[in-house]
Amino acid sequence: MDMKDDILEVLVSTDEIQKRTAELGQQIGHDYQGRNPLMICILRGAVVFLSDLMRAVPIHVTVDFMGISSYGGTNMDSTGVIKITRDVDTNVAHRDVIIVEDIVDTGLTMRALVDLLNTRAPRSVEICTLLSKPQRRKVDVEIKYCGFEVPNKFVIGYGLDYDENYRNLPFVGVLKPEVYEKRKEEKG
Ligand code: PRP
Repeated sequence: MDMKDDILEVLVSTDEIQKRTAELGQQIGHDYQGRNPLMICILRGAVVFLSDLMRAVPIHVTVDFMGISSYGGTNMDSTGVIKITRDVDTNVAHRDVIIVEDIVDTGLTMRALVDLLNTRAPRSVEICTLLSKPQRRKVDVEIKYCGFEVPNKFVIGYGLDYDENYRNLPFVGVLKPEVYEKRKEEKG
């Protein structure tokens, strides 16, 4: 069975993502001219976005990865108390950091991450996220680079998962309700 059969609706198409990513890359290139920013990709969802975004940035950048899990969170919700499961190897001090995320939802993860990185004396910290769900926000986060604002729906694809599946879809979409029902039945 094809993954695409599980899709109810495409929210952001491959073409739209490609076009917006190219714009963001140009903007970052312009804003960070001569500064060699450090792009920190948050595993795992942001990997797909990072790989396209970094190739759209026309200046020198350094790339590193960070793994974060949310303490006591569920599949659907984070808590704002984060645990670093993989830290960057790069020294953040005096660097212009750009956090690359797939989605800012409640904002709790991003708030905690920005606070943590700021304890390491970076020169600056900005956020670049593919998606943002403003309706779900619980804390304010200033997003300098945002791909798309999406409605309060559970979105998958282009890095975002449901139960670790669908990350490899080349667009962002919403699943048919029966997919969740089927998965619940399978898990008992
Ligand atoms: C997602 C996303 C953010 C966080 C956003 O990660 O990548 O890190 O949730 O939620 P918040 O704004 O409500 O805090 P997830 O835990 O799904 O991990 P993944 O990227 O490995 O799929």
